[in-house]
Amino acid sequence: MKILITAGPTREYIDAVRFISNPATGTLGYLTAEIAKEKKHDVVLVSGPCYLKPPKGIKIIFVESAIQMKNMVEREFPSCDALVMTAAVSDWRPERKFGRKLKIKRKWKLNLIPNPDILKCISRMKKEKQIVFGFALESENIIENAKRKMKEKNLDVIIANTVKNFGKPRKKSDIFAIYSDGSIKNCSSFTKNELAFFIVSEIERLARGINWNK
Ligand code: CTP
Repeated sequence: MKILITAGPTREYIDAVRFISNPATGTLGYLTAEIAKEKKHDVVLVSGPCYLKPPKGIKIIFVESAIQMKNMVEREFPSCDALVMTAAVSDWRPERKFGRKLKIKRKWKLNLIPNPDILKCISRMKKEKQIVFGFALESENIIENAKRKMKEKNLDVIIANTVKNFGKPRKKSDIFAIYSDGSIKNCSSFTKNELAFFIVSEIERLARGINWNK
């Protein structure tokens, strides 16, 4: 199969040197790419800025902003069988990016505008045979909120987790795989590596259930 994976945070520049971002490390996305490659899949990794060594033998596309990530995902998705959207995409970007370094010393207001939701855009292009995994990072009502996101973004599976360990090495915390048929698997005991392995195995399992003659 050809599997498209996104990883890491995005950066939304305010001026030449300052940006809005988040502490995502990209670890899960890079591990998923590595395991998918080991299992002989074709892998395309679209990566935000990460301090990780890219896996060898895969196609890797580096991006910074949400808009750049959206453009690359939309370009690559049509030729892929599955998408795993682990990236922590910034929901907003500054309305204006200043090309120079700002020298403002007084109080000022930064206007933020919403970024496009990449998964929502993809849901409009998605063919029946393509498998899409999304993630939900929640502070409360993890399962309810994740189920809502899964519907809104037309996902096959959503991996729901808490903000508790976001950007940190994984400690035991609630994490669930929720499927579009309503079933739920508790993955709370998984390490990041086990979760990455599980994601690739689930893509393979779901693909076996697809009627390719349809
Ligand atoms: N995502 C996306 N495009 C965005 C924001 C998020 O494609 N602009 C994707 C993420 O990669 C993830 C899923 O949507 O797979 C859910 O991301 P999350 O941050 O949990 O939720 P949001 O949809 O941004 O909603 P909220 O921030 O309100 O919880």
